[in-house]
Amino acid sequence: MLLEDKVAFITGGGSGIGEATAKLFASEGANVIITDIDDVSGERVSNEIGSKATYLKCDVTNEEDVLAVINEITKTHSRIDCAVNNAGITGNPSNIEDTTYDNWFKVIHVNLTGVFFCLKHEITQMIKQGSGSIVNVSSGAGLIAVPSMAAYCASKHALLGLTKTAATENLSRGIRVNSVLPGSTKTPLLDQALNMSEGMEEIILNSIPSGKFGTPQEVAEGIAWLCSDRASFVSGASLAIDYGTVSR
Ligand SMILES: NC(=O)c1ccc[n+]([C@@H]2O[C@H](COP(=O)([O-])OP(=O)(O)OC[C@H]3O[C@@H](n4cnc5c(N)ncnc54)[C@H](O)[C@@H]3O)[C@@H](O)[C@H]2O)c1
Repeated sequence: MLLEDKVAFITGGGSGIGEATAKLFASEGANVIITDIDDVSGERVSNEIGSKATYLKCDVTNEEDVLAVINEITKTHSRIDCAVNNAGITGNPSNIEDTTYDNWFKVIHVNLTGVFFCLKHEITQMIKQGSGSIVNVSSGAGLIAVPSMAAYCASKHALLGLTKTAATENLSRGIRVNSVLPGSTKTPLLDQALNMSEGMEEIILNSIPSGKFGTPQEVAEGIAWLCSDRASFVSGASLAIDYGTVSR
């Protein structure tokens, strides 16, 4: 199996891409620690997976939460082999001139500062082990403009720089850091965005060469490969999983 006996930490694991990643990792032999701010969703995913999964509450914007969870995982499993920094939010859509500081701050805090807190403490543990693989979940919005989503777009662009820097700092330590850039993927987050304005579903579908949304499982496959030893020569990479949407 691709991830046999690996210990994997996943943020935002209670829904969408995080949920699919947790389920795929467990089916590939990993012990998964699902974290989320939503206990009901996190517990549900953990229960659906069974004995290979544990749920722990963790708000990625709270550094103490992140550190506590990482300490708990290392106490139980003595290591963290894989980390998937996936938790993210879109915020409310608006042009820049109408964007409130509150909306800007929330999105940057979850999508960027949250990943920074996770990276900081994951890398600290992985340095002790001398190994580890981390995947940050960016977005196609990390490469191209998305009108009315400035904070989201800025946070996802910034994640690519953060990923490359983390990868470069850790090349000699056996720790690989990569990012995935999902295209529009059918999850509650996308549904929420589609419901915000009329006709949005058709506009987005027309922008995808396959004419259909990706599935969370398709994104999870890329994350699993990057986390696995089969990607042993891959670090600092940004893997678009979008059926050619941003490369056209
Ligand atoms: N769905 C898409 O089309 C798409 C496209 C590109 C990138 N992404 C990215 O993929 C990631 C997952 O998105 P999704 O579509 O699965 O969304 P989702 O809303 O289905 O799941 C996100 C999960 O993150 C959790 N979360 C939110 N804030 C959190 C916090 N502060 N701490 C911990 N957990 C928190 C939520 O409770 C939820 O369970 C996000 O980073 C998103 O930006 C999604």
